[in-house]
Amino acid sequence: MINNKLKIYIRAGVLTLAVFFGSFSMLFSSAIVSIPETIDTNKDKVALEKKLFFDPILSRYNTISCALCHDLQDGGDDGRRFSFGVEGREGSINSPTVYSTVFNFRKFWDGRAKNLIEQVLEPIENHVEMDSSMPAVVKKLKKIAWHQKHFGEIYENGITTDNVTGSIAEFEKALVTPNAPFDRYLKGDKKSISRERKGIFLVYFKGVYIVSQRY
Ligand code: HEC
Repeated sequence: MINNKLKIYIRAGVLTLAVFFGSFSMLFSSAIVSIPETIDTNKDKVALEKKLFFDPILSRYNTISCALCHDLQDGGDDGRRFSFGVEGREGSINSPTVYSTVFNFRKFWDGRAKNLIEQVLEPIENHVEMDSSMPAVVKKLKKIAWHQKHFGEIYENGITTDNVTGSIAEFEKALVTPNAPFDRYLKGDKKSISRERKGIFLVYFKGVYIVSQRY
């Protein structure tokens, strides 16, 4: 008769093998494809939000911009364990990159936002991030001639919550990183990533695979 301890070891072994081969086949199967080289965006909206992304006006005391936690010159995050928002309030979760986030099937670490529009509202209204509200942002933007003019040129109804979040989401869509080494690898250039990196991708996809089972 097999004792209980041995049964546990056998189960753990089978599970590890299943996860390993599952993620291995995912990595090399057609389920994972390279990101497209171009993506359709509305150039006027992108230009408008590019300004907003760097503008602290979206925060309660005009001190915090999106770019502060998502440095576009440095990988799209802030390189810290946790970010600092309004009045130096420290968050409790790491700031991820904003690059190529449009391709994530869910946004945020726990996947709570279904799309970029849903995602955009959160940092603006989050107490430890920008601690503002959309009505307050709309009110402030309406007082600025530059925004009046540019929103008016793109949207019939000018500055509204939907138009602000819509243009921010459009800018985020434009933040794509085509032809990265991993994309080139998926397109057949097997030398574009080193053996060590292949190992890292495997661990990463194992994590994504496990997380995706929960949503
Ligand atoms: C104070 C720091 C801070 C500010 C300011 C901030 N973010 Fe973030 N951002 C974060 C953190 C932290 C997360 C992860 C939150 C989570 O997963 O719960 C995040 C997540 C995101 C994501 C999700 C990425 C993904 O793939 O899941 C996007 C996109 C994003 N932020 C864009 C923005 C935009 C646009 C703004 C400005 C309107 C902004 N952020 C302002 C810290 C910040």
